[in-house]
Amino acid sequence: ELSPIDKAKFVAAKRATQYVETGMRVGLGTGSTAAWLVRCLGEMVRDEGLRIKGVPTSSRTAALARDVGIEVISLDEAKWLDVTIDGADEYDSNLNLIKGGGGALLQEKIVATASDQMVVIADISKQVETLGAFPLPIEVIPFGWQTTKALVEETLISMDVLGRTTTLRMNGEVPFVTDEGNHIIDLHLNRIGHARQLSLVLNQIPGVVENGLFIDICDVVVIGYGDGKVEVRD
Ligand code: A5P
Repeated sequence: ELSPIDKAKFVAAKRATQYVETGMRVGLGTGSTAAWLVRCLGEMVRDEGLRIKGVPTSSRTAALARDVGIEVISLDEAKWLDVTIDGADEYDSNLNLIKGGGGALLQEKIVATASDQMVVIADISKQVETLGAFPLPIEVIPFGWQTTKALVEETLISMDVLGRTTTLRMNGEVPFVTDEGNHIIDLHLNRIGHARQLSLVLNQIPGVVENGLFIDICDVVVIGYGDGKVEVRD
């Protein structure tokens, strides 16, 4: 039997498979919720004759997708996607998101942006009034990362952002390394007042590759509850 949290993730993932049809090129997200989606799609490929091409957003998802029998192609082979289905760390009432808790935000943003539609699957605990309680991840290139981090802190001060602790994400004793060979700095901001502006300003800093704010990218959020109820917001 699934725990309530896993049940919530599973029912959201299962409901989101309705956005997938044979012949589609599908962006496959990263994280524990997206993993349910990949397993559900794998089952449909095996048992229901669903034919899709999947573009994974991480090496982890690529391995899982192959494992469950989904044909995996690169984004360059696909060029454009019909739909991307992914998890999120937070979503607000405008369907803006924080992503990157799993460290895959760069590929996730590229893939979601290259899709006709982005569907987010989440349990209700991911819903927030204002983004920012979840630390905002930014992906930075390793060269000069400490200088980049200092510049990010200065930028936050100049924007009057409250709560400006920044931490280099670690993997045990060494810095975490993304699929693209970069590092992640997590911004502990508590509350992000001007998400759109913050996203733009952060991406202006040399050394910052991307940030985990997804503004105007997500079209639908499928919300799962522990009792198996599902709600769709679009
Ligand atoms: C991965 O980089 C993240 O953007 C994930 O989508 C996010 O962390 C959600 O993960 P869970 O579904 O495991 O909560």
